[in-house]
Amino acid sequence: MTTAQTPELDVQPTPLALLLLGREADPKSERGVECPGDLPSPSDPDLVERARAAKEKLGDKVFVLGHHYQRDEVIQFADVTGDSFKLARDAAARPEAEYIVFCGVHFMAESADILTSDDQKVVLPDLAAGCSMADMATAEQVAECWDVLTEAGVAEQVVPVSYMNSSADIKAFTGKHGGTICTSSNAKRALDWAFEQGEPSTTKVLFLPDQHLGRNTAVRDMGMSLDDCVVYNPHKPNGGLTAEQLRAAKMILWRGHCSVHGRFSLDSVNDVRARIPGVNVLVHPECKHEVVAAADYVGSTEYIIKALEAAPTGSKWAIGTELNLVRRLANRFAPEGKEIVFLDKTVCFCSTMNRIDLPHLVWALESLAEGNLVNRIEVDKETEAFAKLALERMLALP
Ligand code: 13P
Ligand code: SF4
Repeated sequence: MTTAQTPELDVQPTPLALLLLGREADPKSERGVECPGDLPSPSDPDLVERARAAKEKLGDKVFVLGHHYQRDEVIQFADVTGDSFKLARDAAARPEAEYIVFCGVHFMAESADILTSDDQKVVLPDLAAGCSMADMATAEQVAECWDVLTEAGVAEQVVPVSYMNSSADIKAFTGKHGGTICTSSNAKRALDWAFEQGEPSTTKVLFLPDQHLGRNTAVRDMGMSLDDCVVYNPHKPNGGLTAEQLRAAKMILWRGHCSVHGRFSLDSVNDVRARIPGVNVLVHPECKHEVVAAADYVGSTEYIIKALEAAPTGSKWAIGTELNLVRRLANRFAPEGKEIVFLDKTVCFCSTMNRIDLPHLVWALESLAEGNLVNRIEVDKETEAFAKLALERMLALP
């Protein structure tokens, strides 16, 4: 028997794991800090009643937003639920609410803070609810990328389009450089807009930070070829690209991805088709290109829900997105005779979305009801001004 050598890994130590455990503060990123209060015990049988009572005490002063990936125990207290786009719009539409409690992840709460008035306070019940994809593009890396594009002589032709799943700093960079934010429900409209900003034959898009959403939208929805896309790797000199490659590309995709949607593979699609004859495969556009290309339908979380609402009785569906949502939809539509299964064989929750649980929600609501503002998410004014520009361009897309 031979002993395997430990391979030399090209990996830098990162404080991320500790931060995800809530031990340190890094307010400039999607990573969190320790919860400052005394959380109720998860086994407290009165949690539901406590959340209800605190919310009732706060009345119209509080507005609770819930992303579709939230747990059932949390989503039951949401005044509105939605995908990233709908929640951004809904947050802005409640100027009378003093507190916006965001049951979602950090970048969503930042966007809500940017889009609401200065006297409204946005609260994230657990500050460690970040997003690993958003962490894949830092402000320093993106500034360096812009220098690379400038050196290659292409920056003037580039319009940045940043996915909502990015920090406020990246949104501000996007606003400053004439770009827009997009979500999975309007990515095609955002790209159409971006290519209209300059001479169509020479304009390029720098798409941040989800390479899959960028590639899927460009190739599947806009008819570009895979060769029109290059991937900029922030961990390589010059992004791992030559000036020639940058000049030839139409889409410069940042090398970021969602670890939850990245688990679905072509095998997952082939397996489910073999197991369930006649199944419809419906996936989120954060999935890899080969998964999206093999699927029957592709869309945001809101699109997925609407497609299942409209599906005929007796139809069968395999869904490629986060498990809290798929499980809730399977339970909701089973009485209507719609069979809904998770696309992968193994479970796949978004661990950071899952950090918002009932104890954190109860703690946040009770603190607010007692007059203690906790876990406020507040974007600094300069960042906010440019990030707002980019978010408002998205909200104004046709
Ligand atoms: P949507 O809700 O916009 O589809 O996005 C999914 C997601 O990954 C949010 O983090
Ligand atoms: Fe981020 Fe993926 Fe979780 Fe969405 S599902 S919050 S993109 S890690």
